[in-house]
Order: sequence, then C-alpha cells, then structure tokens
Amino acid sequence: MNKLRNATITAVGMYVPPKILNNKYFEKIVDTNDEWIITRTGIKERRIIEDGATSDLAARACQDLFNNSKVKPEEIDCIIVATVTPDMFFPATACLVQDKIGAKNAWGFDLSAACSGFLFALKTGASLVESGSYNKVLVVGADKMSSITDYTDRNTCVLFGDAASAVLLEPSESMEFGIIDQLLFVDGSGKDALHMKAGGSLNPATHETIDKKWHYIYQDGKAVFKVAVKGMADVSYDIMKKNGLSSDDVAYLVPHQANLRIIDATAERMGISKDKVMINIHKYGNTTAATIPLCLTEYYRDGKIKKGDNLILSAFGAGYTWGAIYLKWSLA
Ligand code: UT7
Repeated sequence: MNKLRNATITAVGMYVPPKILNNKYFEKIVDTNDEWIITRTGIKERRIIEDGATSDLAARACQDLFNNSKVKPEEIDCIIVATVTPDMFFPATACLVQDKIGAKNAWGFDLSAACSGFLFALKTGASLVESGSYNKVLVVGADKMSSITDYTDRNTCVLFGDAASAVLLEPSESMEFGIIDQLLFVDGSGKDALHMKAGGSLNPATHETIDKKWHYIYQDGKAVFKVAVKGMADVSYDIMKKNGLSSDDVAYLVPHQANLRIIDATAERMGISKDKVMINIHKYGNTTAATIPLCLTEYYRDGKIKKGDNLILSAFGAGYTWGAIYLKWSLA
C-alpha cells in the first residue's frame, strides 16, 4: 500500500502504581506457591492501583511522556486508548484521558483488542499520520486488570497487573524509519477460551451474574497457551520473512508479556538469542494492553535501543487477536 509518509515513535511514557503484590502474597490467599508461578509464567511481582481507574493510569503515563518531551498536551491531535478495562462503558476512556491531561484540541476513541490492543492501536494511529490527516497521535495501552480479577481464582489472579504506557506518533523524517509493516489478525471462534461473560449486552449485570462471578476474567489457560505459542511465534517469524530480515537484522523482539514460555518459543522460532528479547514480565505480570509500550519505554530509557534498530513487536490475546509490527526505531 502506498503511504504519503511514515509514522514514527517520537516520545514514550509509562506509569506503574507503587503497590507491589509479590508471589508470597498469593501463597496466603490461594493454593499456590512462588515456584509454580515463576516456573509456569516467569512472574515474580505485579503492581496494583489503589487510587484510581484506567484513565488515571493512562493520564499519568501521558504526563510522564510530556515531562520527557517538548510536546505540549494542547498540540495532540488524537488519543487512542487500547484497553479492556475502560473506566465506564461510555464515555470512552480516551475522553477522560483527554480531559485529565488537558489535550484540549484532541479527538479520540478506545480500541478493544485485549492483549493485542497496543499493536492494533499503534497501526490505527500510524494510519492517521501516514494519510497526512494528523501529525501528533497519542497511542496509549492501559489496563486496570485488578478491577476484573477474581482474587479467589488461582488460575488467573497470579497472572495480571495494572499499568499504562503511551507513545507519541509523528511523521517520520524519512521513509526509512518508523512503522514499516504489520500482520494483524482476529479469529472470533476463540471467544470461549478467554473472555468476561457478563456486563455487556449478551449478559447484562444481574444479581445472578454477580453470584456466578461472571464479571471477572475467565481463561482456559491450557487452550489459550496452545494457540498463543503457535500464533505469536508464527506471526513474528512471518513478518521477518516478509521484510527480508534475518535474525541478525533484528535488534529486539518486543513481545506481549503473558508467559515467559510463550516468549521463549517465539524467540526460538525467530532464531534470536535471549539477550535480544525485551522482558519485564517478572516485575509487572500481564498488564494486557500496556505490556509492549512498557517494554519500549524501559529499554529506551535504559539506553538499550539505538536509532535504526529493527524491532519486531508481537502479541496474542483474547478474541482471538494477534499480530506483529515491524518498526525501525528513530529516536536517538
Ligand atoms: O495474555 C493473553 C493471552 N493469555 C495467555 O497467553 C495465557 C496462556 N496460558 C498460560 O500462560 C498458561 O496456560 C497458564 C500460566 C495460565 C497456566 O499454566 P499451565 O502450565 O498451562 O497450567 P494448567 O492450566 O495446565 O494447569 C496445570 C495445573 C492444574 O492442576 P491439575 O489440574 O493438574 O491438578 C492447575 O489447577 O496447575 C494448576 N494451577 C496452579 N497451581 C498452582 C493453575 N494455576 C495455579 C497456580 N498455582 N496459580
């Protein structure tokens, strides 16, 4: 497809709440143990917000981005918030974020694609820039997973955490840098394996839905694991091949952080070594839409990403949704 120009990431920001729940905490509330959680998932700690909703996580991540760049909130054209835990069904969380950060000239909307949410939002935002319609698009991945987690269910409660992270998309100085290519997919036949049963138009909230715990995450972990491992590995490999990249050409795999075993399998399929895989699952668990931009922000701030680095971002999540984006980093 012909593009007028490329979109590229010109600023990053993040917010993780201060409260830490470590694996020992879960040993006290459900039948689990530190060793099981680490060996089966790679998670040691996760963060939980005590003083706000998803829009607060998102607004704080955007504020961090503004504090670390020359861009001002009133210059933002559009805000896209990828989330499955909106503050409310409506208005969109993007509206609440717009108000909280003072982006008085922006429009915006929410995008629901679960753990692939950031990738889908990044491509959507990039298209707004590539078309020439807008120059400054904020793409935010934000989830307060603790608001839909059943802390009596050991199958899910150890996995998730709260966080937000944001990137700014602007036109790239050349076609060489920025969002180069993407492979994005959905398959709704996977809906039964990972979902929240009630609260939507299918099963509106009733006393019965609450009694049945239908307002929490439901996951058939084994079923999701099987398709996620193949889906994420295949799409990451396919985008490399499609763009003629060898494993040596890739500076980093930036994977969704759901399970270290899924991440390892993806890296193996791509033929890249562990030192070229961005990992922070041990600190934050699965923060759904926030995992990938959190990795980008932390690794960039640690001086580990260089201008010109080829990054492969990839994710798999509820829907099913999955995909990969090839990005050539342009920030020095
Ligand atoms: O992020 C979006 C997409 N989601 C994913 O990608 C997640 C994919 N799935 C997974 O990451 C893994 O399936 C889990 C981490 C969720 C579970 O790991 P697993 O190795 O697939 O375990 P399992 O579900 O097959 O369960 C094995 C055993 C079961 O016990 P029995 O039936 O063998 O007696 C579970 O009840 O482990 C048990 N178990 C636990 N034991 C201790 C499940 N959760 C726990 C726990 N602590 N927290």
